[in-house]
Amino acid sequence: MENQVDKTDSKKLALGQNGKAEADSLLATKSNVEIQRMFDEVAPTYDLLNHVLSFGIDYYWRHNAKRYAQKALKSIEKPAILDVATGTGDLAKALSGIENTKVTGLDLSEEMLMIARKKCPDVEFLSGKAEALPFQDETYHVVSAGFGVRNFQDLPKGLSEFHRVLKPGGHAIIIEPMIPRNPVINGLYQVYFQSILPKFAKLFTKSSFAYDYLPKSVASFPQCEDFLSILVNAGFQDASFIPMTFETAIMYVARK
Ligand SMILES: C[S@@+](CC[C@H](N)C(=O)[O-])C[C@H]1O[C@@H](n2cnc3c(N)ncnc32)[C@H](O)[C@@H]1O
Repeated sequence: MENQVDKTDSKKLALGQNGKAEADSLLATKSNVEIQRMFDEVAPTYDLLNHVLSFGIDYYWRHNAKRYAQKALKSIEKPAILDVATGTGDLAKALSGIENTKVTGLDLSEEMLMIARKKCPDVEFLSGKAEALPFQDETYHVVSAGFGVRNFQDLPKGLSEFHRVLKPGGHAIIIEPMIPRNPVINGLYQVYFQSILPKFAKLFTKSSFAYDYLPKSVASFPQCEDFLSILVNAGFQDASFIPMTFETAIMYVARK
């Protein structure tokens, strides 16, 4: 399958010992192969760390995305939803709770998808990459992505693929971490996100560089109006954002 990331290439990549240097190198390329390798490695501990490190608030963020989708889809009899960068399927699972929906999840990492398939048997999970979605034009009413677009090797291409597979009037719903704009909250957040979180995470995962990469990838990713411009350049309209939980996460919404 054209979309499948070559596992052999992935194995050929040397696993560096220096986590911070590896994180910098990954940040520079965001190569699909290396991103896949990182998520394959963190897959066994991803859910636990995600829920512990966010103090369980990540459920609420995904619940907000579900509520937004529910409203957007209320006049559609059988909505079709695509969750890109679905990982272990938590957002896909939340969205599958919307009545009569058919949810499809897609991700680079087969190890993440294996967990997703066990967790949500109602959702179809496929291996693939955002930059070349294996679907026809105008297939979905909603395309979502939770904490995924930041890792795309080619963000404009990925978002234009979201736009292509959406039906006219369809909705994109994207959640990302946010760097709080309030200086006091920002100060506390930086201490937690830059120092405490990576050290704690390293106690539980062998892929420690993933948690050096995380704060760097958030810090260097466009947020608020800057990200809206990228959505508009990908063809979207009515793009807006909703900060959540003291601006520690953000939901972007836009229409085709
Ligand atoms: C932080 S996890 C998020 C998983 C899930 N959406 C959640 O809310 O917890 C990011 C996921 O994005 C996937 N990913 C990154 N780049 C991708 C791309 N270009 N195409 C498809 N999946 C991608 C990774 O494999 C990983 O599983």
